[in-house]
Amino acid sequence: MSVPAARWQALWHRVRTRTGEWRPRRGSGDGICLSRRHELLANVQSIEPLRVDRIDLLGSEEPLWIRHTANFERLLDNAVYDPDQEFMPYWAEIWPSGVVLAAVIARDPGALAGKHVLELGPGVGVTAAAALKAGADLVVADFAPKALALCALNTLDQTGKEPRTLRVNWRRSQRELLAAAGEGFSIVLGADVLYDMEDVPVLIGLVDRIVAPGGELWIAEPGRDPAKRFVKLLRGQKWRVVSEEFASPLPDPNYQTMDTITVHRLRRPGQATVRRRRAESQRGSPSSP
Ligand SMILES: C[S@@+](CC[C@H](N)C(=O)[O-])C[C@H]1O[C@@H](n2cnc3c(N)ncnc32)[C@H](O)[C@@H]1O
Repeated sequence: MSVPAARWQALWHRVRTRTGEWRPRRGSGDGICLSRRHELLANVQSIEPLRVDRIDLLGSEEPLWIRHTANFERLLDNAVYDPDQEFMPYWAEIWPSGVVLAAVIARDPGALAGKHVLELGPGVGVTAAAALKAGADLVVADFAPKALALCALNTLDQTGKEPRTLRVNWRRSQRELLAAAGEGFSIVLGADVLYDMEDVPVLIGLVDRIVAPGGELWIAEPGRDPAKRFVKLLRGQKWRVVSEEFASPLPDPNYQTMDTITVHRLRRPGQATVRRRRAESQRGSPSSP
């Protein structure tokens, strides 16, 4: 199903507000610890100026007010000259996939309520805010400490809650993610985290270990080849895939294109299927669909 672009755009208002202005969600401000906010703001001082944008989610009456970098180009330029910057500072911007995934969560909050949920690569925390609003027991994992601080700040302002944050580079070590998974996450979220082919086998191996049997992986992507390959490989491993297309609510911050955003809900086979398949492969007989 494709949601018409005109409807998205009618709902999409990008409001530039005064830099540094705090716009907590109505009713959520009372319990927010100001010293914690100051601590988080101090952690992201080096990417100032920041600005706050209003994000309307399709189908939801409640907008999110999200703080992010006011000068993405400057961060990108500086990254080129920073020899220690292994990855580009993509975490500092709002990506259309994250907004669409947040809208999908807001449409079906019961799917996440009370569940053990992980978000890979939360960036500034748009999807994380929707997941916390839905009542998820949320862990977020990103290699960038400033992303984790900005995500915590935005979720605190928007929901009065923070996720558990893990500073993890999934290419280098997955130990902490495995420990946080315990018996497995019920749902793992990822918005525009598959833009490099190198991550495809790494993340296939990871989700196979951290998504609980019968659990789900929700991936939002704007048509990048690594994401398509990732979904194809998991389909081949008998994950059930349901995909839904949306017109982009905002331009891609890097290329300024208005892409179609696809949200894939992939369900991992249950324990019985996994056991049956293992037994079949040991006997050398093919797995039935
Ligand atoms: C394009 S941004 C998307 C951010 C957010 N999900 C959104 O939609 O706005 C990709 C995110 O994945 C994180 N990321 C990329 N590669 C990573 C890695 N190897 N380990 C941990 N985080 C990574 C980045 O820091 C960034 O937050």
